[in-house]
Amino acid sequence: MSDLENLLSEDRRFPPSMEFAQAANAQPGMYAEADTDRLGFWERQARELSWAQDWTQVLDWSGAPFARWFVGGRLNVAVNCLDRHVDAGFGDQVAIHFEGEPGDTRTITYAGLLAEVSQAANALTELGVQAGDRVAIYLPMIPEAAVAMLACARIGAPHSVVFGGFSADALSSRIADADAKVVITADGGYRKGGAFALKPAVDEAVEQCPGVEHVLVVRRTGQEVGWTDKDVWWHDVVGRQPSTHTAVAFDAEHPLFILYTSGTTAKPKGILHTTGGYLTQVTFTHRNVFDLKPDTDVYWCTADVGWVTGHSYVVYGPLANRATQVMYEGTPDTPHQGRWWEIVANYGVTILYTAPTAIRTFMKWGEQLPAEHDLSSLRLLGSVGEPINPEAWMWYRRVIGGDRCPIVDTWWQTETGAIMISPLPGVTATKPGSAMRALPGIGANVVDDQGRPVPDGGGGYLVLDQPWPSMLRGIWGDPERYAQTYWSRFDGIYFAGDGAKKDADGDLWLLGRVDDVMNVSGHRISTTEVESALVSHPAVAEAAVVGADDPMTGQAIVAFVIPRGGAPEETDALIAELRAHVATQIGAIAKPRNVFIVQELPKTRSGKIMRRLLKDVAENREVGDTTTLADGSVMSAISGRLAAGGGTGDES
Ligand code: WT7
Repeated sequence: MSDLENLLSEDRRFPPSMEFAQAANAQPGMYAEADTDRLGFWERQARELSWAQDWTQVLDWSGAPFARWFVGGRLNVAVNCLDRHVDAGFGDQVAIHFEGEPGDTRTITYAGLLAEVSQAANALTELGVQAGDRVAIYLPMIPEAAVAMLACARIGAPHSVVFGGFSADALSSRIADADAKVVITADGGYRKGGAFALKPAVDEAVEQCPGVEHVLVVRRTGQEVGWTDKDVWWHDVVGRQPSTHTAVAFDAEHPLFILYTSGTTAKPKGILHTTGGYLTQVTFTHRNVFDLKPDTDVYWCTADVGWVTGHSYVVYGPLANRATQVMYEGTPDTPHQGRWWEIVANYGVTILYTAPTAIRTFMKWGEQLPAEHDLSSLRLLGSVGEPINPEAWMWYRRVIGGDRCPIVDTWWQTETGAIMISPLPGVTATKPGSAMRALPGIGANVVDDQGRPVPDGGGGYLVLDQPWPSMLRGIWGDPERYAQTYWSRFDGIYFAGDGAKKDADGDLWLLGRVDDVMNVSGHRISTTEVESALVSHPAVAEAAVVGADDPMTGQAIVAFVIPRGGAPEETDALIAELRAHVATQIGAIAKPRNVFIVQELPKTRSGKIMRRLLKDVAENREVGDTTTLADGSVMSAISGRLAAGGGTGDES
């Protein structure tokens, strides 16, 4: 089998400005420092936190692939995120500017957050939760979500946050797998201009899970809720608790949380993260990748707490670094498509961290919307979740960042816990679409089928060849599956499941999941590169590409394209042009057999394109399991579009 083809090349370079570089938290020497003594480097990062007891060993890898970091050390995560800032005199600093979708706001200081977390910790203790017990959290994007997580961390009860968009079935299987004793939820939340309900799904799930002893319910919307004898109101039980709580320290390897990755077919995996190494790496990366200046920055990560991005870069990293941040409950188009830009202007957001799917949606909506708001406070932009196409990167830089903000394209996974591959914003001369290189202290490489590193210019499998502090410690309840899933493809090396290439300078380009790689006449072509070629055409906002069975070439490339600013009347000419455009951008081998103009693409709730469903359509199969789709109606619209035929742009 040949390696992945390296098709696109990129010459644009964006070094940081002199001012940014000089003031940056991360300076160029950091790479050499970490190369010289990797464990010593991580040890120094760990010292930035407040420990109740020192460790005796930085890393114990003797039980590989099960790591122990900062062996014997003890600390409390909530104390690191709250108490130490209040003790240092920053109690009045704003921790969270909350904005609800209906427009209600709350300003929560570090002292206020500490008081609420202490009350919630006392309440959980009263409900019988002890260190080691699991607590499921099923909440909208409201401050209580962060409070609940921190309260669990404070008492050493691992939380399992389940995204509020998941169904009762998904919730109950996660509650059951982790054997959660308490569920924290709300009556509902606000989304797309209305109140949605959460409590009915919890009622249904708890019926299946007799191990749940109590359900703690936040009143957010005031809607009617069913009530059982397990249910207690948050404002009753939490509200009457003392607002102080003496925290104890936990072992560095004490479980902090379980987070289920939504496998599309197999049983979800409960990814387990622990305390000391996790907090060390999320804090380090948050400070250095986002260049966080706690006294002046206003940071906004748009992710929901239901995803790992919300865990690491809404809750733990920012609070450990004493950030002031924005938290927004709703959707970007409520009540109008400029809502995010209004928020940036109102709060003076300086650092924005979001996903390519959002950026491409804004491209589709057009640049006049951000132009109507003052975005001059922004000084750094981040991206996560998918490869960002070079043209989307350029749009983000120009339209949102006013050509002045460094962009950090951050590669990581639920499993890695924290950012692994990313530019350092004051150091790296970035390339549009590249996550560049492994952070200091991190070992990443691209290897061929035999596990041999590919030379510069080559493509293959992305691997992590050194254990890292925030690495997953296993799959909850299934050590075999952990070893099998991540450590068996290449002996003793973590395989991430992604394809990647090294460019001529050795910088890394993520090419999507290897399961999505297409094989056209024996050439292994990544969906990402063809999608990026399509998005580089001015008429295209977003593209998804799949390999469909083809009698001639094995697989043929089928593309689904969302036009910028609405569909043209006549699509044949555009389709022909797009096919030709791909051929000139990256070569005839990658020319799509069909291009279909669509209005939406099937995406998961976290914004990843579900190529599996598009492949079903492209191969004329009945569309498979759509339960993880964010919008269930999308596939019928696309199937309808295809039934109308064409897609080749040929005159015939
Ligand atoms: C997968 C992990 C990491 C937090 C959110 C997603 C893809 C993530 C990038 C990036 C290219 C990326 C990978 C990875 N991915 N960031 N910057 N460039 N691809 O967490 O749901 O665990 O997904 O997301 O395919 O393996 P997740």
